[in-house]
Amino acid sequence: MQVLRTTAQMQAYADEQRRKGHRLVLVPTMGTLHAGHLALVNRARREGDHVTVSIFVNPTQFSPDEDLASYPCDFEADCDALGSTGKVDAVFAPEVDELYPDGAEAQAIWITSPELTKYLCGQYRPGHFRGVLTVVLKLFACCKPHVAVFGLKDAQQFYLLRRLSHDLALGIHIAGEPTVREADGLALSSRNAYLNSAERAQAVVLSRAVAQARELMEHGQQQSAPVVAKMTSIIAQAPLATLQYAEVVRTDTLVPVKAFSPGDEIMAAVAVYFDRTRLIDNAIVKIPLSQC
Ligand code: PAJ
Repeated sequence: MQVLRTTAQMQAYADEQRRKGHRLVLVPTMGTLHAGHLALVNRARREGDHVTVSIFVNPTQFSPDEDLASYPCDFEADCDALGSTGKVDAVFAPEVDELYPDGAEAQAIWITSPELTKYLCGQYRPGHFRGVLTVVLKLFACCKPHVAVFGLKDAQQFYLLRRLSHDLALGIHIAGEPTVREADGLALSSRNAYLNSAERAQAVVLSRAVAQARELMEHGQQQSAPVVAKMTSIIAQAPLATLQYAEVVRTDTLVPVKAFSPGDEIMAAVAVYFDRTRLIDNAIVKIPLSQC
């Protein structure tokens, strides 16, 4: 497993792999790897024959009141975890000044999508997706992948990046991998480590809420209001939880809908605070045609 630290090294290495005829797959991460990330690595191996994992805690996607300073990181442990999969060819782990050589403040070009960030997390995390879209485009420019793999746990991020590749004609296939969960349903996340034991026990309400939403939508419910009400009531069962949003959106527009029709792809999503820890979850449902 090669470890590459500079953009120039990474670009030269990617060019060489392309010349050899490899199909390059990139898995972008911020490190602190867990089984969710490793599922993306497995998927990457199936999508191509050369896998690069990037590890970069991107400062521009954190707002000043968020957890950049305390965001966990253990590069050695991450490399061990990736090495033991036997499926990773290269790790791209640049320092901040490699990707932001003049400092983020001096950068004049940013990628934004006001349309796709009006709702869900975009509404509550101003600037977050501008940071994500911009850094992922930089990672694409460095790693030159044919395919990039992202988790559907961060569904708004996934749909935005799919549109980034499509709208800017990047020619990169964006693959989405289902959410990996703990035994009780909680979606794996680096931020679960912030939960105390009482919060951890109650955090199961997120997955319960979206599972119930899925159940309703797969069995004939075609109005959003009862789905939102169901999710809200399940989150309310956890006294330590504060609901930020429960929304039902179309996956193509990421805009809330009042009602949906057979064949629509719909996502029910929640964001919940436990003290200062913010967790998200979602269920994505293709409304069955058999309902008509
Ligand atoms: P990070 O939070 O480290 O996540 C890296 C990738 O792992 C993302 O595609 C995310 O959706 C996926 N992932 C996280 N938890 C998962 C789970 N339980 N199951 C499946 N996949 C999961 O997302 C980011 O980093 C950053 O925003 C990044 C895209 C790297 C840009 O900085």
